[in-house]
Amino acid sequence: MSLSDFVSAADSIVILTGAGISKESGLQTFRDPDGIWAKHRIEDVATPQAFARNPEVVLGFYNVRRAQMEGSNIQPNAAHAALGRLEGFWPSGVLLVTQNIDNLHARGGSRNLIHMHGELAKTRCNDCGHLFEGIGDVETDMVCLFCGVTGALRPHVVWFGEMPLDMDAIGSALGRCGLFVSIGTSGNVYPAAGFVQEARNNGAYAVELNLEESLGANIFQEGRYGPATEVVPEFVDELRIIAES
Ligand code: APR
Repeated sequence: MSLSDFVSAADSIVILTGAGISKESGLQTFRDPDGIWAKHRIEDVATPQAFARNPEVVLGFYNVRRAQMEGSNIQPNAAHAALGRLEGFWPSGVLLVTQNIDNLHARGGSRNLIHMHGELAKTRCNDCGHLFEGIGDVETDMVCLFCGVTGALRPHVVWFGEMPLDMDAIGSALGRCGLFVSIGTSGNVYPAAGFVQEARNNGAYAVELNLEESLGANIFQEGRYGPATEVVPEFVDELRIIAES
C-alpha cells in the first residue's frame, strides 16, 4: 500500500505542527529531556495567574525566547521549506495549523497558516486587546500606545487555561479535509491533540511524522518516524507525485 491508495489530489489537507519541527532549526521543544519544561515550571511562566502574580518573570521568559528566535542562527529548516512548497503545488487547499509561537513557518514560505497558540513576534494589550507587531522586549513599565494603560502589555501567546485561537476555522477545515498530517508534536496538549480524532471521524486519512511515536500514535493510520528535516521533505515529495498524476 502507498499513500496514493488513500489520498488523491482532490483531498484538502490539514497539517498540525509542534515544537519538533523547529528543533533542527535550533529552538528547544517543551517535553524532551532538554526541553523548556525541564527548566521552567508551566505554572510560573505560562498561565494568566503567573502573569498576574509575577509579570517580570513571565515577560522575561518570553523576552528570552523572542531574542533566541530572532538570532541570525535560527532559520527555517528543510521541513518548514517543504511545507511552504506543498502549499504552492497542492491543488485542493492546504491549511497549516501550528502550535508553535515561532515565525519559522511563514519564513519557510507557508501563507495559509494559523498560529493557534499565538505568536512571539506580536504583543497584545491585556486591557484593550490591541495587537502590536515587532516591538521586541516587553517590560512591565511600558504604556499601551493605543489605550494608555501601563503594565498591561503581554506576549500574544496562548497560556494554559486560555482559549486557543481560530478554533472555528480549524474545526471547519478538519471537517472537510481528506488528509490530516501531524508533525513534531507529542500529543500532550488539547485541543490540538484531539484534531486527529476529529479529522478521522470525518473520514480523513491521518499520518503522523515525528521523531518517535506520540501519545496518540495509535489513532493515526500511518506513522513515519525520524527527524523532521528528513521525513517531511520525503512525504511532501510523495504528495507532489500524487498532485502530478
Ligand atoms: N523531528 C521531529 N520530531 C521531533 C524532533 C525532530 N527533529 N525533535 C523532537 N521531536 C518530537 C518529540 O519526539 C516530541 O514528540 O517533537 C515532539 C515535541 O513535543 P513537545 O515538546 O511536547 O512540543 P509540542 O507537542 O509542540 O507541545 C505542545 O505544549 O507547552 C505547550 O504551548 C506549548 O505549543 C506547545 C504545546
